[in-house]
Amino acid sequence: MAATNIEVWQTGTVVEAESVTAETRRLVLSQSLPKKAEPGSHIDVMVTINGERHKRSYSVVDSSEDGLRVAISVYRAPQSRGGSVFMQGLEVGDQLEITQPLQNFPLRVGAPRYVLLAGGIGITAMVNMARVLHNIKADYTLVYAGRSRAAMAYLPQLEALHGGALRVHVDDEGTALKVDELLAGVDPKTELYMCGPIRLMDAVKRGWDARGLSAPNLRYETFGNSGWFDPEEFVVRVPRLGVETTVGPGESMLEALEGAGVDMMFDCRKGECGLCEVRLLGLQGTVDHRDVFYSERQQHAAAKMCCCVSRAVSSETGARADATGERAVVTIDV
Ligand code: FES
Repeated sequence: MAATNIEVWQTGTVVEAESVTAETRRLVLSQSLPKKAEPGSHIDVMVTINGERHKRSYSVVDSSEDGLRVAISVYRAPQSRGGSVFMQGLEVGDQLEITQPLQNFPLRVGAPRYVLLAGGIGITAMVNMARVLHNIKADYTLVYAGRSRAAMAYLPQLEALHGGALRVHVDDEGTALKVDELLAGVDPKTELYMCGPIRLMDAVKRGWDARGLSAPNLRYETFGNSGWFDPEEFVVRVPRLGVETTVGPGESMLEALEGAGVDMMFDCRKGECGLCEVRLLGLQGTVDHRDVFYSERQQHAAAKMCCCVSRAVSSETGARADATGERAVVTIDV
């Protein structure tokens, strides 16, 4: 699901900034090269972390008809790699480099039924899609799962617009989403679009396959920012180049390798395109695959990993390296 359109960089100016939950900030940006965002669009943004420039992706929540403005939402991740801290610090008047809206998660208009599934901040990829489906009077259900109502961005607006088409699952109200029950209500003609934590998307993909539902009818957006384990420090070695470096919990393996002077290939930096693939020569620990590029079988084989998002942990039991002193060690070739 790599981007199929060309990146056009421009200047974005913050024209509105407000907190929509304790952890989520909504930013409205004016575009120097106006372009309307279709449902499923995102923009790439250049952020500065420790003086270095990095690209991050954000779903467009909405945009004005004339394309002058796009709105995004920035979630302050507990294990932020620095991008969300930079973005949350922006105020009205600040300028940054952004792309025009890019599309790699298009909504196919014309399906008989839709389910839109959002977990947590994944709702940002769904708001615009759900609005379009509402406006064209499509048969759709928007399923929104979160840990508490207070943490669920845009909930009041979604309730007001979608009424009975919105189904809300809240962990701390005892109504957590049950993937089996959700999929039991999906018929073969339904298209399901989802964005959320990798565990949720993985469960849906497995259930989808197990029911023999049509693969093209399952569509997803991922920004590769959550994994099976909490991020921890690990070591990466590239014997052919004589490189050994440490990957901190707040950076990606790709960033650490770039920082060590290794010439890396990449495109999406979201675990989707596979261009950053590295070959595993040795492993002390476990790979935390966070990509959506490999099949489950390929991930289990632990022969390759997408280093832009995937990591290593010292233990599958959750005993963290900082508690045990044991760090995972990944030996690779690039
Ligand atoms: S750069 Fe695309 S999967 Fe890593």
